Parts: sequence; structure tokens; C-alpha cells
Amino acid sequence: MTTAVLRQHAETEYAHELAALARFDERPRPPGWRLSPQAVVTYLMGGTLEDGTEITPKYIGERRLMEVAVVTLATDRALLLLGVPGTAKSWVSEHLAAAISGDSTLLVQGTAGTAEEAIRYGWNYARLLSEGPSRAALVESPILRAMNEGRIARLEELTRVPSDVQDTLITLLSEKTLPIPELNEEVQAVRGFNLIATANNRDRGVNELSSALKRRFNTVVLPVPDSLEREVEIVLTRVEKLGRALEIPARPPALEEVRRIVTVFRELRAGLTEDGRSKLKSPSGTLSTAEAISVVSHGLALAAHFGDGELHAADVAASLAGAVVKDPVQDRVVWLEYLETVVKERDGWRDLYRACREVS
Ligand SMILES: Nc1ncnc2c1ncn2[C@@H]1O[C@H](COP(=O)(O)OP(=O)(O)OP(=O)(O)O)[C@@H](O)[C@H]1O
Ligand SMILES: [Mg+2]
Repeated sequence: MTTAVLRQHAETEYAHELAALARFDERPRPPGWRLSPQAVVTYLMGGTLEDGTEITPKYIGERRLMEVAVVTLATDRALLLLGVPGTAKSWVSEHLAAAISGDSTLLVQGTAGTAEEAIRYGWNYARLLSEGPSRAALVESPILRAMNEGRIARLEELTRVPSDVQDTLITLLSEKTLPIPELNEEVQAVRGFNLIATANNRDRGVNELSSALKRRFNTVVLPVPDSLEREVEIVLTRVEKLGRALEIPARPPALEEVRRIVTVFRELRAGLTEDGRSKLKSPSGTLSTAEAISVVSHGLALAAHFGDGELHAADVAASLAGAVVKDPVQDRVVWLEYLETVVKERDGWRDLYRACREVS
């Protein structure tokens, strides 16, 4: 086993959970699926199996959303996960592919420079020149491989991909076929194939997807966590996991410290204090849960290596300010105002106020 790998793929890291789920899964599995839809949802949401095996929750949020996402993949529609940054779109997509196909690596990263070859196929030019067009000279894209193997392919950041390249997906998704005219052949998708795309509604809008393409997707919107408690739970769960993976020798963060950080994020994001009493200005960035996670884990690393191993305000202040102040002029004003009007006045937040003032 390659234990030195920095980050394992979901299907490796959670192999024991997936195997246990498969063992007790008596429900019908869609063709090509490793697990039934019900078991996939248990894998995502967590639970306890008959033999006591604990399935850790991967997604913390509404179960219904995961049910809809999973069921979509068993239909002839592809799945589009949509949401603001840091709402676990990529994370859910990886776990879905791992649970359904046992392979989350058939991944295309969408960028403004994504070319058709990345979605369809390219050529190994050395072979193409020496042998002419042949199957051996063909370089399959991850999506083509997924079609051949009957697995789930993933396409990250679909809306960043240029629209003519996006349109390559239309026939692929409706006909489940990819013609290779150079070889006078076509690849027909094997049962079990489907596609999960993610898109960020902070980038270019999904409205810019052509309506023909939009119709081939079912969209599931992943929301920002609805309550402070839930967001704290997400941060604590992820931080604990990351801390173990990186072997950071710090004690788990105190619930209170994490609550404060998440409160700061939520208040600035909403432009309102949690008690609903005072309006606030919001900074230009998104302040996602993902950033709250990194503020806490960065703080823990500082505490472990340069502090007393316990997370204090001084360990999080700098990265907290860094997360809020993305635009050095406007956001700084927003941040300082928040510090003076909210943080300074709040019971038990004096240490946080002082630590933040020192670095701001
Ligand atoms: N509801 C949630 N449940 C579990 N983990 C979550 C949740 N929301 C966010 N996270 C965590 O936040 C981190 C970032 O998530 P991810 O990278 O998937 O976001 P994203 O939606 O793809 O963002 P981006 O638009 O920036 O690509 C992950 O570590 C994930 O575990
Ligand atoms: Mg992502």
C-alpha cells in the first residue's frame, strides 16, 4: 500500500467502507454500478451497517439532495452540481464516482483553455506518423475511457470551458456515442457510464450554457450550510480528518474557537450579525466553508509547531484576516469596521479582537 501518498483517492481511502457497503447491499444495482443507489447515499451521508461497520459522513447537509443526485446518475441524464465556491461540489462528485464506479480518477479539469481533445480523444503523434491512424495511436480522454469502461466521468468547472468545446458533450450525452471519423469507428458507451459536471455560479453563469446542453443535465444546487451548528460540524469534521492526514501534533480545536471563526464567516457573508440586530458590509470574496476549514487547520499547524499545541486567537488571526481581505483597499475597510463594531464589543471575544488588530 502506498502510505506516503499525500492525498488518497476516495475509493482507496474509504475502500473498507465501500467493501462493507457492498457486502450488505441487497437492493438492486443499476447496470454497471458497484452499489445500489440507497447504499451510495449511505456512503455519502454516513450510517452504521449490520455488522457494526461505521460509515463516516462525507456530505453534511440535506439527504434529499444526495438522493436526487444519485438517482440522476441512474437515468439517462447527466448530473450538474452547482453552487458558490466551497460548497463541496468537487468533493461530492469525487465520492459519487468512487461509490458508483469504484474509480474517481476519470477527471477532466475544465479551464478556458480546455480543448476538444480533452473531452474526446487526441493522438500520440509519434505513432500517428509512423503507423497512421490506429486504435494504438489514439489517446483516449478520461470521458472516452469512462464510456468504454461503463464508469462515471467527472468534468470540473464546466462553465469555464469555451462554449464550442462544451457543445462536444451534447451528442456524447444524448447518443451515448462518440464517433471517431479518422478510424471510421465509434465508441458506444457501456452501461454504467454517466457524467458529473461541477460549476461555480460565481464564475461565468450557468445561463451561458447552451440550452441544448442544459437539457442533458439535471442540476443539483449545493447550498451554503443553513445554520451555524451545521457549518461548525463541517469544519470540525474536515479539520480533524486533515489534521490526521498531515499528522499535525495539535490537540483538536476547542469547539468555542471554531464557533467564533465560523460566526465571523457567516456574519460577513450574510452582511448581518447572528442576532439579526446589526447590518454589516460584506467583503468582496466569498468566504466559503472551505476557507473556514483552512483558517482552522492553518491555525492548528501554527499552534502545534510554534505555540503550545492549543488553538488560540493569535494562531488564527492572520489567516482569518487574509481570508476576509481579498481586496486590499475595500475589504480592509470592511474588516476594520467589523472588528471595531462587532468583535471588540462581544463578550469573550477580546482576545480575538486584540489578535486581529495586531495583524491588521
Ligand atoms: N456540506 C459539506 N459537507 C462536507 N464537507 C463540506 C461541505 N461543504 C464544504 N465541505 C468541505 O469543503 C471543502 C471544499 O469543498 P470543494 O472543494 O468540494 O468545494 P467546491 O464546491 O468544489 O468549490 P469550488 O467552486 O471552489 O471548486 C472540502 O474539503 C469539503 O469537505
Ligand atoms: Mg470544485
